[in-house]
Amino acid sequence: MPTFKYDGREIPFEPGESIIKAAARQGIEIPHYCWHPGLSAPANCRMCLVEIAPPAGQRPMLLDILEWDASVGDYRPTKKPKLQPACQMAAQDGMDVRGETSEEVKKARGAVQEFLLLNHPVDCPICDQSGECKLQDYWLEHGRFQKRMRDEPVHKPKAVEFGSTIVYDAERCVMCTRCIRFMEEVAKDPVLEMRERGNLNEIMVAPGRQLEGKYTFMTEHVCPVGALTTKDFRFKARVWFLRTASSVCQGCATGCNTHLDFDPRYNKAHRYRPRDNEAVNKYWMCDDGMVTYKEAHEHRVTEPRVGGNVVTEAQAHEELRRRFQGVPHSSIAVILSAQHSLEDNWAMVELGATLFGSKALYWSGRGAGYADDILIAADKNSNTLGVAQLAPTAKPFATFMDDVKAGRVTHVVALGGSTPGRLDDDGANLADATTLVTIAAHEGALTKAADIVLPACSWAEASGTFVNAKGLRQVADKALEPMGASRPAWEHAAKVGQSIGVEASWSKLKEVRAAVKALLAPSSSSVHAAPPTASA
Ligand code: SF4
Ligand code: SF4
Ligand code: FES
Repeated sequence: MPTFKYDGREIPFEPGESIIKAAARQGIEIPHYCWHPGLSAPANCRMCLVEIAPPAGQRPMLLDILEWDASVGDYRPTKKPKLQPACQMAAQDGMDVRGETSEEVKKARGAVQEFLLLNHPVDCPICDQSGECKLQDYWLEHGRFQKRMRDEPVHKPKAVEFGSTIVYDAERCVMCTRCIRFMEEVAKDPVLEMRERGNLNEIMVAPGRQLEGKYTFMTEHVCPVGALTTKDFRFKARVWFLRTASSVCQGCATGCNTHLDFDPRYNKAHRYRPRDNEAVNKYWMCDDGMVTYKEAHEHRVTEPRVGGNVVTEAQAHEELRRRFQGVPHSSIAVILSAQHSLEDNWAMVELGATLFGSKALYWSGRGAGYADDILIAADKNSNTLGVAQLAPTAKPFATFMDDVKAGRVTHVVALGGSTPGRLDDDGANLADATTLVTIAAHEGALTKAADIVLPACSWAEASGTFVNAKGLRQVADKALEPMGASRPAWEHAAKVGQSIGVEASWSKLKEVRAAVKALLAPSSSSVHAAPPTASA
């Protein structure tokens, strides 16, 4: 692989790759505003300027400039090396690139910072981006000066609603055009543009349009400063109070890699941010997925119930024992869930195998929905393929309903609340047909119709593995403490087995994980293996 030097360090690169991208892969962040690894590089912010030594035997490219000479109190003509934008300059084998080690580069970075802050309101204490703003970070690293401009800054529109999700503050905008390019190049909807010139520049929505669609949140995530904010997160939390867990979006089978930001003081999830993974979601998420962090708290099953009444776990199991006493194992069915982890489903498969030799296994999950050719999959479940891999013979939910109607199934242990049909229809059809025990994190037709409900941890409360539509096995880490009396569904499955008279072989997560691993072939990807790219 060809290499170049950055501040004396050898950096390998793919032919055609920019200096900034190759450096980012090695964990070196060359400061930047307009560059984003997933977008084109207009090189308009000039923050990434680097000094490139001329090839051997050639003279350096120099620019004539005027430099302030304090000793004579006047400008004097001099020369300086012509710096190059690292975001647009393709790396060449043997290139000698200087960043931190170049005095000219340091001066340029400070000058860009000063220029960007001329009119930028220093309203950091109330800015939502505070704590994760590139302007703040780079000012600390490359600025640290007092503003020399004493004039009144140019005032521009604040809190402009671009649509139902995004608010724009023109005064904070550094005109990097990332939002414009994202909408044009990724979302394929060129609805944002720039108007005016110089310090009157402003981002605007195309006349007669609103910033709406399936990918509006991403404009906020590509914005390196606090110019774009989402109505969803705006003023809800200060980022320095938040902790982050590596997670996987549960919105569809794409399985976008995410950061789940939560406040440990209140055990509350606050937002999803996309986590870079070239093989799955690159740097992006869709709007629908971006708000699914709310499901960590909404529509949750948090207490055991019998006949709709909250009971203790011991009472629920007592009822379970009573209802299943004497029932031949051959009349009991198990429903897996495409919305629960491999670990949860494996425990259910094991339960089924012990009860009836895996003959009456079914699976359920949400019904299909909107899809596009950018990210969104029609399958709205995060683990359909995982269920298929664990239990290839499991029958679909429609077959289960037929078997219930025909009286072939009388007693059921189900995982997950969701079914593909309408909640009311599926719930009503199931209600009197069976004795139903449902282990679930979220309410749905299967909890509505259940005689006994056991509260399971959501994906945010227990480490779990999900297999996306491409077959990549990805781990969502635990972020939150379990709500109410919920516990991992694989633990419930073991206890349900005991109540029915089946001794479970597992009691710890590592035992479940080892069994899953032994059952399934190794996967080529993991959620923890995202490439290091500085996309923020
Ligand atoms: S709104 Fe943000 S992303 Fe868009 S141009 Fe301004 S600073 Fe860049
Ligand atoms: S595409 Fe699917 S997995 Fe990705 S963010 Fe959207 S809903 Fe979530
Ligand atoms: S000019 Fe290179 S990051 Fe903006």
